[in-house]
Amino acid sequence: MAKVVITTKFFPEEIERITREGHEVRVHEGESLEKAKLVRFAKDAEALIVLLSDRIDEELLQGLPKLRIVANLGVGVDNIDLAAATRRGILVTNTPDVLTEATADLAWALLLAVARRITEADQDLRREGFPGWTFLPKHLGVDVYGRTIGIVGFGRIGQAVARRAQGFSMRILYYSRTRKPEKEATLGAQYVSLAELLRESDFVVLSLPLTPQTRHLLGERELRLMKREAILVNVARGPIVDEGALAQALKEGRILGAGLDVFEREPEVHPELLSLKNVVLTPHIGSATWATRRRMAALAVDNVLAALRGEQPPTLVNKEAWTNRSPA
Ligand code: NAP
Ligand code: GLV
Repeated sequence: MAKVVITTKFFPEEIERITREGHEVRVHEGESLEKAKLVRFAKDAEALIVLLSDRIDEELLQGLPKLRIVANLGVGVDNIDLAAATRRGILVTNTPDVLTEATADLAWALLLAVARRITEADQDLRREGFPGWTFLPKHLGVDVYGRTIGIVGFGRIGQAVARRAQGFSMRILYYSRTRKPEKEATLGAQYVSLAELLRESDFVVLSLPLTPQTRHLLGERELRLMKREAILVNVARGPIVDEGALAQALKEGRILGAGLDVFEREPEVHPELLSLKNVVLTPHIGSATWATRRRMAALAVDNVLAALRGEQPPTLVNKEAWTNRSPA
């Protein structure tokens, strides 16, 4: 019997799947626990199911010597020190694929909301009432159909964003770490440099992981390459964009608008962004649909149960921790 700790309110049927295999489950339902408290709460845990907001670093791992697996409820694993986990032989898993479509949907929801000024129009209507139909209303937006979208990070989510763009008859540009010739054909996408993508796109969508290489990939210099009528959508990670530089570019009208689901210092949001009308902000809800969250929970539990049975978890991130494991 192993102890499994979950750092968030969780689906009861998934907890039951764990207890049915004879394991003990401890759930923390309140606000995120700071490190020392989490170590105390998770004492003797062999498996941890964690949120993206839980920082899993060397010190925390040191405090949990029995730990065998950390199952992240999300695909991005920038909250986990992978090298430290691997050194200790701790398996790290994530939840890819099951959240791809929901996150691509949210990217599109933000793109459309900014282009057509949906939240601004909604707020004005609630506050001021419907002023009657006018030919040149104050909420004139920009076209989406037939324009150019530039996708930065052409993996699962980036490609799902591109599939939706096909329905809008858009010219699709992408920039990614590796070129994907087979996808260029099926999605009608063209590979370009980041600079070219920023210069050419009417909509720039970020869908790449946060790594040392991608931190502040979009700073003031890159933002200055964008068109004045361009809209930036970030459903990846906040620190990929220099948030101060972005707020300044939006304030000065150097780009038209932004749709942001992620922020540089979550849960903080840059105060200037809050006062701008040409941005739509959502609190990191890319994968937040009932069905997607159920699939994420089920996958995290599949990963934990596999690890506790001594099997390779289905969506293992640090493969070296598995290959280098000592014989049971
Ligand atoms: P993925 O399939 O691994 O795709 C990521 C893409 O980014 C890959 O094509 C990768 O290139 C590319 N990439 C990596 N490093 C790069 C670099 N330095 N420069 C340019 N491109 C780079 O991952 P995914 O499932 O699409 O998820 C992408 C990210 O979205 C996650 O890591 C997470 O941070 C974020 N996300 C956010 C939400 C939300 O709630 N807002 C939800 C889900 C995911 P290769 O093809 O060479 O690997
Ligand atoms: C969400 O941000 C994820 O990485 O799944």
